[in-house]
Amino acid sequence: MKERSLSQENYAASCTLIPGGVNSPVRAFPGLNMTPLIAVKGAGSRVWDLDGYSYIDFCGSWGALILGHAHPAVVEAAYNQLKLGSSFGMSTPFEEAIARCVIAQMPSIEKIRFVSSGTEATMTAARLARGYTHKNVIVKFNGNYHGHADGFLVNAGSGLTNLNLTSSSKGVPPDLVKNTASLPYNDVETCRQFLRTHTDVAAVILEPIAGNMGTVPATQAFIDMLREETTKAKALLIFDEVISGFRVGLHGAQALYGAAPDLTCLGKIIGGGFPAAAFGGKKEIMDCLAPLGEVYQAGTLSGNSVAMQAGLATLQEISKPGFYEELERKTNLLTQPIKDAITRYKLNACINQVGSMFTLFFGHTEVTTKTKLDESAYKALFVHLFEEGIYFPPSAYEAAFVSSAHTEEDLVKTRDAILQFLANL
Ligand SMILES: Cc1ncc(COP(=O)(O)O)c(C=O)c1O
Repeated sequence: MKERSLSQENYAASCTLIPGGVNSPVRAFPGLNMTPLIAVKGAGSRVWDLDGYSYIDFCGSWGALILGHAHPAVVEAAYNQLKLGSSFGMSTPFEEAIARCVIAQMPSIEKIRFVSSGTEATMTAARLARGYTHKNVIVKFNGNYHGHADGFLVNAGSGLTNLNLTSSSKGVPPDLVKNTASLPYNDVETCRQFLRTHTDVAAVILEPIAGNMGTVPATQAFIDMLREETTKAKALLIFDEVISGFRVGLHGAQALYGAAPDLTCLGKIIGGGFPAAAFGGKKEIMDCLAPLGEVYQAGTLSGNSVAMQAGLATLQEISKPGFYEELERKTNLLTQPIKDAITRYKLNACINQVGSMFTLFFGHTEVTTKTKLDESAYKALFVHLFEEGIYFPPSAYEAAFVSSAHTEEDLVKTRDAILQFLANL
């Protein structure tokens, strides 16, 4: 095991000051029984910890860093803006520039508003849907994560027809989730029946390519049914593309499915590693927002100038011809040999992959919906990779991400480490 005394000391000190020592729970390596990675530096595909070890990073700030750490164009854009002022609480031309850029890439978005986190984007999209439709119920799907707003923290239980689900977090009164329904992901008939029999649905929100139960893409039939039935029910269809937007392609998951959601939520990549997110969609709906309409939303740091410049620089880089093809080619260097090994060794495992996001699942040969996984096998893989200087997401239920900064050497080293692990299973 790596000797990580500085990280251990720092984590112990943090634990006396910050609950669990972290500012977001999964950073604490829950269930892993080891000191979390305490990062001090990132460059390209690598991250360095407090003890000086470097790791090839496949977490990439949970998908935000599609260009890797400290990409020169992003650093320059952010630094130049920093010198000119980091926050104004006033409109800036950079907001118009990035709005134009996003709208050009996602035809379903006619107007957009920038916020500071994915949580704010989805929370406001739900409020907007309710304000626009004058209805109350938000349908979500088991295993999809839409940030931590009260209304989304609903047990991924089996409440197929019962709206009164309990929250999966303490501190959320039943009243606040009584208008949330959580249905099984990719279950066409259950969802169709629900939408046909409930008249109070304001919106259906989903991750079209889920990343929070591992990588699990929706089926085309599921997306097509949702578009058809929400339209009939006069409910909005909201794509939460906080992960998939600008990850699976320049035009998001919606282009892969040929679908036009009414609202789209974006985050992570759009801020270039800074706190920025957005939601956007049809003009008629977006114009219900204050100051034009009566649906309220605001933010001191919304459209923050440094985040907008970093986001713009990122969008410019990923718009270069061949960017996504190259990213997928590199990802396949890693995933294809692993898929082959799973078949060769007849393992009870599988890989789901869309472009440069993927998950290696243990305990099932196919994963198409929220599924209980073999967590101990994943943990063993995580520890094996960590010791080899490779950082995968510290949970079986997350997606791994390849960035443009990963080199072929990085991918070959990682491939070999995983193949060695699988051979010993
Ligand atoms: C699909 C999805 N939506 C929303 C969120 C919430 O975003 P944030 O953590 O920026 O609040 C996340 C975060 O991981 C996410 O994966």
